Amino acid sequence: MATDHNPNPPAEHPLRICIVGASGKLGRYMIQHCLDRGYQVVGVCRPESVSKLDDVADRIEIIPGRTDDRETIARAVAGCDGVLTVLAPWGVHDYSSGTARAVLDHAEPDARLIFSCGWHISRDGLDRYSWRLRYLVPIVSTLARWARFVDIDDQVRATRLIFDSDTRWTVVRGSDLEEGESQGLPVWSRHVGDPILASNRTRRIDFALFMVAALTDDTLVREAPAINGCATESARACAADQPRVESERADMP
Ligand SMILES: NC(=O)c1ccc[n+]([C@@H]2O[C@H](COP(=O)([O-])OP(=O)(O)OC[C@H]3O[C@@H](n4cnc5c(N)ncnc54)[C@H](OP(=O)(O)O)[C@@H]3O)[C@@H](O)[C@H]2O)c1
Repeated sequence: MATDHNPNPPAEHPLRICIVGASGKLGRYMIQHCLDRGYQVVGVCRPESVSKLDDVADRIEIIPGRTDDRETIARAVAGCDGVLTVLAPWGVHDYSSGTARAVLDHAEPDARLIFSCGWHISRDGLDRYSWRLRYLVPIVSTLARWARFVDIDDQVRATRLIFDSDTRWTVVRGSDLEEGESQGLPVWSRHVGDPILASNRTRRIDFALFMVAALTDDTLVREAPAINGCATESARACAADQPRVESERADMP
């Protein structure tokens, strides 16, 4: 499916966007896409990570603080048209669900709320996973939680809170990621296992692009798109299978 986004908001009212988890890899790409669109950016990141944003510090407002700190989030999202939240399941103290709850509770009532997670999150249980995701995720989750390093179940709890909320949310489910130059807006589908997603590979810069594009795409409100790179084999194969639209037919000899 394609997204319909407007990268050029009216100049007299640039969108004000809060990025929660701004100093991470995904966050930094999202900052760049937002600045490219002329948006005002407020970034929240842990105090020890503020220096990671030195190169953009004169172009964005930075609010240091843990992303699950309710006071920090309340201050950061005030007056924002949209909030882009990196859900990171670090530690075993409900970091992801604390972050999600703070954003859901404090964001402006009409704000677009976009959250990141992985394919392992299922909204309706209809996703069809490869054996790798079916068996490896629970094993890795158990080991990581045992080491008190990461609690993947907490990301599941965070997204349950979001799915049950009546805010204007979108949960973007990322495939396996890679670095590299942008290939364009990823394709998406409602369910992992759909043929268009088979390649399971998205550039991180394009994951960020999809998150930012979702801010102005109302067709994605209360959707949990699973994404995949638009230049991957499965995306191109599915595009080739699509019937041509009428406007294209008119140009044909
Ligand atoms: N990595 C993948 O292969 C993959 C695949 C699919 C989906 N995703 C999703 O993509 C999103 C971004 O993932 P990413 O791998 O690209 O990571 P990332 O963007 O580098 O983000 C990691 C975030 O977690 C924070 N963080 C790191 N260590 C922390 C700690 N100990 N306590 C609290 N916060 C900590 C980082 O903040 P600091 O800057 O302060 O360290 C940063 O905001 C996540 O929602 C993830 O579920 C990832």
